Amino acid sequence: MLIEIDSERIQSEIDQLAKISEASPPVMTRVLFSKADLQARAYVQARCSNSDLALREDAVGNIFARWQGQDPDLPAVATGSHTDAIPNAGKYDGVVGVLGALEAIRGLKRSGFKPRRSIELVIFTAEEPTRFGIGCLGSRLLTGALAPEQALQLTDSAGKRLSDWLEEVYSQSGDLQSVRLVPNFYSAFVELHIEQGPLLERQRIDLGVVEQIAAPATLRLELIGEGGHAGAVLMPDRHDALLAGAEIALAVESAAKESQSPDTVGTTGLFRIEPGAVNSVPYRALLEIDLRDTRLSTRDIALRRIRENVLAVTQRRGVQAHLDVINQDPPAVCDAALVQAALQAAVRVGFSARCMVSRAYHDSLFMAQTFPTTMLFIPCRNGVSHRPDEYASPEAIYKGTLVLAQLLQELASAPSRI
Ligand code: GLV
Ligand code: MN
Ligand code: MN
Repeated sequence: MLIEIDSERIQSEIDQLAKISEASPPVMTRVLFSKADLQARAYVQARCSNSDLALREDAVGNIFARWQGQDPDLPAVATGSHTDAIPNAGKYDGVVGVLGALEAIRGLKRSGFKPRRSIELVIFTAEEPTRFGIGCLGSRLLTGALAPEQALQLTDSAGKRLSDWLEEVYSQSGDLQSVRLVPNFYSAFVELHIEQGPLLERQRIDLGVVEQIAAPATLRLELIGEGGHAGAVLMPDRHDALLAGAEIALAVESAAKESQSPDTVGTTGLFRIEPGAVNSVPYRALLEIDLRDTRLSTRDIALRRIRENVLAVTQRRGVQAHLDVINQDPPAVCDAALVQAALQAAVRVGFSARCMVSRAYHDSLFMAQTFPTTMLFIPCRNGVSHRPDEYASPEAIYKGTLVLAQLLQELASAPSRI
């Protein structure tokens, strides 16, 4: 069965979606529950309706667009990603896995394929952690990795809780218990995504098939020192929250560099100070720290070193510290049979493919805890991501979409799970 992918249509939809941003395009910013985030989701829902997919939205805003199979009682095959974007992002992260998947489904429909299993496109709520500090909110709730009571308490930097947001956006304060899916809801989950790293481009390989996803942890650190007049408070009397934070940010770098694993990476991606005036000693600092590794043991050793450092630095400087571990997740191992099926699907349509590790996290990190999961990576220019100059070529997107379509076709035809 010949599957034709309409490359121009995907590109035009990616470009239309890229007009929806809190910042001026090409800068993408679509933070959870912002006008842009909601508009982007409405845009995708409309495209799904146009393609005769049955839409459902759960209590946290995860969107499901289903192509009903001939045997709808069999667990469905799922694919999807996210449309939210961190501040100052590009237009491909997440979007390729949503619009590419939609085109894969349309291509299968055009080819005359009749799926035995239903095929479901999932658009996850808040893969990015910008509003609540925690990533993959929708997929954590879908798979039970986050308790609904805990989720409802999540609070953004303006002090607004998830429950308040749900009330405002969906006029309900969240029956989040209903979000969790039973383990055999899906027979497989496959997420198409840009690599966000340089390997495929450097090695001139069309597709990466993910067999492992690195383990992320996020810390939020509030430092309370003592403010005062920049001219009047003498140096021995200072308890400068910024300087304590600066030492800790350097300690994050050392903990990552000096771990026994080349895969440990540590980033202090957020550092805010108050009052933020040139002639005032900073009395408060808020830091958010991101730490990851493919190996849990070395990630956790680095985490311990950072905690020890926070204690030592704040004691020495007479600054108070409140440290919250927002998340500390294990790595995901993808389903071996699904990885093989994905590699074969790539070869079947004539493209080169290799197995790889995902250093970024994705909703697949959590989907893999419950459902057989893998990801298809396509190359992106210079491995750049989370920047406005993020770029994936139409050819790379075409290839990823075709392999996804081929794989969905095989998975949706299988009488038992692969
Ligand atoms: C996801 O966007 C990540 O930060 O890995
Ligand atoms: Mn991202
Ligand atoms: Mn992403």
